[in-house]
Amino acid sequence: VIVMVGLPATGKSFITNKLSRYLNFSMYFCKVFNVGNTRRQFAREHGLNDQDSNFFDPRNSEFSKLRDKWALDTLDQLLDYLLDGPGSVGIFDATNTTKERRNTVLDKIRQRNAHLKVLFLESVCSDKSVVEKNIQLKLFWPDYKGKDPESSLKDFKERLSNYMKAYEPIEDEEGLQFIKMIDVGKKVIAYNIQGFLASQTVYYLLNFNLTERQIWITRNGESEDNVLGRLGGDSDLTRRGENYARALAKFMDVQRTDFYSDVM
Ligand code: SIN
Repeated sequence: VIVMVGLPATGKSFITNKLSRYLNFSMYFCKVFNVGNTRRQFAREHGLNDQDSNFFDPRNSEFSKLRDKWALDTLDQLLDYLLDGPGSVGIFDATNTTKERRNTVLDKIRQRNAHLKVLFLESVCSDKSVVEKNIQLKLFWPDYKGKDPESSLKDFKERLSNYMKAYEPIEDEEGLQFIKMIDVGKKVIAYNIQGFLASQTVYYLLNFNLTERQIWITRNGESEDNVLGRLGGDSDLTRRGENYARALAKFMDVQRTDFYSDVM
């Protein structure tokens, strides 16, 4: 079980989705279980209002209980996937920002199966520009879809500040197996790592970066077979095809120069 930890807008869901894709690619059944999705589904099914920032106030015990319930329901689905289903790795995508919540999560896992390996993965963002970018992306989130961007932004910032009131970063003394990813991979701390899958995860996260890249996709320039309408083969380019190839190389040079002058 990989248990995510971190404030909203620190890139948790981005990391979990990429990590899950990597583990799938490495032939492990891996799935992400997101508590926000459980909350939204429950709210829809029970005709509840949308949850604004007050809902995430740690001083409101009624809402805190509901949030804990949804977290544990989601964890149960994850454990079903590992214990009764095909899963090798389940990623629990939630904030889990207090020691108490992490202990509850660990107890629940132990109750269902004492032998499951648990790795905590905390995402910490000290780079304000990355947090700011992530906050802007939240406006496209299901919680704010179709709503006024200005009030959504204000609400999300209040939600974040509510989480910050209760936030306790993971400490060595908690005795957990954990990875801390700082600024989405600029710095990675690994503590108490045991076993092959946990080491693979550290290895993958060490190679994680947010460097912007361009990907261009092009067809070949016109070939003699293209002109004859023949598929396959390995014919030469026509004169038009050669012109295209030369123009493409020039075009890419210009694009590359523009791109690097923008990102530097
Ligand atoms: C959410 O409800 O969107 C997140 C719940 C949490 O992990 O705090």
